[in-house]
Amino acid sequence: MKTDPIEKMSAHWLLAKIGKKVLRPGGLALTLEMLAMLNITPDDRVVEFAPGLGFTAKLTLEKNPASYIGIDAEQESVNLLKKNFKHTSAQFQLGNAAQSSLADQSADKVYGEAMLSMHADHRKSEIIQKASRILRPKGFYAIHELALAPDSLDENVKLQIQKELALTLKVNTRPLTIPEWTHLLEKEGFKVLKTETAPMHLLEIKRIISDEGFSGFLKIAGNVVMQPKIRCRIMQMRKTFKKFENNLCAVSILAQKV
Ligand SMILES: C[S@@+](CC[C@H](N)C(=O)[O-])C[C@H]1O[C@@H](n2cnc3c(N)ncnc32)[C@H](O)[C@@H]1O
Repeated sequence: MKTDPIEKMSAHWLLAKIGKKVLRPGGLALTLEMLAMLNITPDDRVVEFAPGLGFTAKLTLEKNPASYIGIDAEQESVNLLKKNFKHTSAQFQLGNAAQSSLADQSADKVYGEAMLSMHADHRKSEIIQKASRILRPKGFYAIHELALAPDSLDENVKLQIQKELALTLKVNTRPLTIPEWTHLLEKEGFKVLKTETAPMHLLEIKRIISDEGFSGFLKIAGNVVMQPKIRCRIMQMRKTFKKFENNLCAVSILAQKV
């Protein structure tokens, strides 16, 4: 687990530190919708970009895919994943998804959650290009990311949201509107088949209980109460999410390589 000072720790590690396992904007419900859209079967060779703590990896492995490879850029994540999944057939690689050495057309289904939003648009495109390269023709790519609303959101407001999110979350955060996400995928040779949305309620009590269960919620609440520095960071995050609640949502998109 990360040992950065609390004040500088990126939001996903801070949340993981207090016991949060679901780190994506649309929560477990949108992850389940994404997996339903992807429809992973035992014939599928699956690649996950940025498995993080392995929450979705576990759900995917329950579907017995032909193979599963997870690529995450953080050493701590990969160490944890290798330890937690050592009795499974899953393989984990350390690296940037955009530069992975996976063979062209070696996957049937690729997905990633809460990872493209962390990158500037040209880096998002590189990651999407990589997904396209490793997918077989007509293979599927699903994403679950942070989105901006409404579609006509003023450019200055977008910049303000990005700036405040980056400051609070301590990680680059560049969400897009749904048409912008769609355009990015289409630009790299994907056809968008389905889009699902959910409210961005990552730190709302009701969402935490539905994502982590009641005992998980109690553990998280206890950690927040007992650790003032963490409490301060979490309150700042909640305040920012609340401030922009009408302009933030979560989106999952299923796209097909054409
Ligand atoms: C917010 S966490 C989300 C983790 C997980 N997908 C989830 O939803 O719980 C972001 C993760 O993305 C990973 N990540 C960010 N950019 C990446 C990249 N270019 N390649 C691989 N992993 C990346 C980080 O290492 C981190 O584990």
